[in-house]
Amino acid sequence: MPTINIVGFGTCEVAEGTRLVKAIKACGVDIGHRCGGFARCTTCRVEFIEGEPDVMTRAEYEKLKESGLFGKVRLACQIVVDRDMTVKPLMRVSEQGWSDPGPEPEDSVTPEAVFIPISELERE
Ligand code: FES
Repeated sequence: MPTINIVGFGTCEVAEGTRLVKAIKACGVDIGHRCGGFARCTTCRVEFIEGEPDVMTRAEYEKLKESGLFGKVRLACQIVVDRDMTVKPLMRVSEQGWSDPGPEPEDSVTPEAVFIPISELERE
């Protein structure tokens, strides 16, 4: 099982194929997911320290470009854990003053994932 290292919170193991946002929650960290995991809100944003996937869903790419965040953060709701990863969640419920993290994301990536190599997206 892959190991997730969450900066400031320690490590835990999660089943391969888990959405990263759900993996971070399962490790006990109060990451935001205000749109319910649909690549609309960016509150699940994380900084990757190690293990960043070199593919991205089209939905993540379009949201990050629109928000000026492309190349700076990744959206944990659009990433599937397929390797060891070290990440830093950037918007946590307890820091933002939200009453809840947002609707519970589904088990699989939404909207339906189309993973595209980042190098290909950068050429568009
Ligand atoms: S963009 Fe909203 S939960 Fe990921």
